[in-house]
Amino acid sequence: MERRQFLGSLAAASLIPRYAFAQNTPQRLLASVHRQQILPASYPDTEMWSFGSTFPGPLLRARQGDRLAIAVENALPQPTAVHWHGLRLDNAMDGVPGVTQQPIPVGGTFDYEFALPDAGTYWYHSHAKSMEQIERGLYGPLIIDESDAPDVDQDITIVVDDIRLEQDGTITGFDNFHDLSHAGRIGNLWLANGQIDPAYPLKRGERVRIRLISAANARVFTLGVQGLEGWVVALDGMPLADPQALPDELVLAPAQRMDLIVDVTTDQNEAFLITFERDGGYAIAHFPVSGPAAAARSGRVILPPNPDYPIDLVQARTATLLIEGGAMGGMRAARVDGEQLDARSLAGRGLFWALNGIAGRPETPLLDLSLGESARIGMANNTAFPHAMHLHGMHFSDVLPDGSLGPLRDTLLLNPQETREIAFQAHNPGNWLFHCHMLAHHQAGMGTWIRVSA
Ligand code: C2O
Ligand code: CU
Repeated sequence: MERRQFLGSLAAASLIPRYAFAQNTPQRLLASVHRQQILPASYPDTEMWSFGSTFPGPLLRARQGDRLAIAVENALPQPTAVHWHGLRLDNAMDGVPGVTQQPIPVGGTFDYEFALPDAGTYWYHSHAKSMEQIERGLYGPLIIDESDAPDVDQDITIVVDDIRLEQDGTITGFDNFHDLSHAGRIGNLWLANGQIDPAYPLKRGERVRIRLISAANARVFTLGVQGLEGWVVALDGMPLADPQALPDELVLAPAQRMDLIVDVTTDQNEAFLITFERDGGYAIAHFPVSGPAAAARSGRVILPPNPDYPIDLVQARTATLLIEGGAMGGMRAARVDGEQLDARSLAGRGLFWALNGIAGRPETPLLDLSLGESARIGMANNTAFPHAMHLHGMHFSDVLPDGSLGPLRDTLLLNPQETREIAFQAHNPGNWLFHCHMLAHHQAGMGTWIRVSA
């Protein structure tokens, strides 16, 4: 396995000790500026913005059915807010400035507290100036344990990211028109839990749960696992009723998660988590394998289901979403706050994308639903770029070509020129954002919302 640096002159990365997660859920989460070595040791360190003075932020862990109470204190130079991505939580705790709360001012605190109806793999991140704040490091993993968790030897969380760093270790260049109008901010260094190619030791024969979370700003990762065999058991936190054997390629769009349960089957001394790039596969994390063999387990694992909100496809309210804009997209005009603007004036405001002809969050929701109603949204990606559409507060299924429902997700990847349909039951009251999780696209216009009235 070859390893490579994106930054041409970097020396080979040395192995960095395993990222130590906090053991307990802190009752207080400080958002602040700190310095951390991200580039190899011979390079300068980096000013990061982070939760709990560590990047990524501490692993927050709780039990399904519990409540989580966290006071977020803002010691950053900007207002912020925390979104608990993928949780089907109380709307007032969703962390979206201007929609569910006022931003937490510099020096201020916001008390988040909510119930945890679902088990699974989630993450938390800033939802204020998120293209900048997430890139600077304001995110962390959030795990909700099943009361009846599967029997595994290790449970490893790996947050993958691609950060864009200068050789002097700085993070700069926000709001540039190229990122806003093309694929978004693509990084030049792959990180797993904030490190270059970290090591997670395994024993031969062990059964391991690997939770993959993408905190990438815009990159769509194509990942692969070498030396481990098993199943994909959950997507975006939600258990799969029919886990699939681990495929060669795992596509992980920004904000998506994937839980794997794998057995250490290699006869080599290392297994790998690989990112596939145009010119080959590169290790993004690796797993030194040693003996003696643990007691091998056999058989597929099916995680216990989370609460189910059945979808009524026949009675469902419908909406369509036309995704337009971006470079090579030919979008001529869009409405902004009720005013029709041509492409030049849109660009002048940093807007390059539109949903149904509107750039930026509209005054009226895409759908105005009553609690318990089902909804279907047909989406057409009429652009030259992929988009990762994320709905807050509720998971959806994609409606497959044969009319059946695919697995529940909270973020769906639409490839260029692709058409997809999603469906969900409006079981959670509130105003919920529906936006592209390529953060540059969201900033440059790709966001709408859905209202669910109790
Ligand atoms: Cu992961 Cu609107 O966010
Ligand atoms: Cu997008």
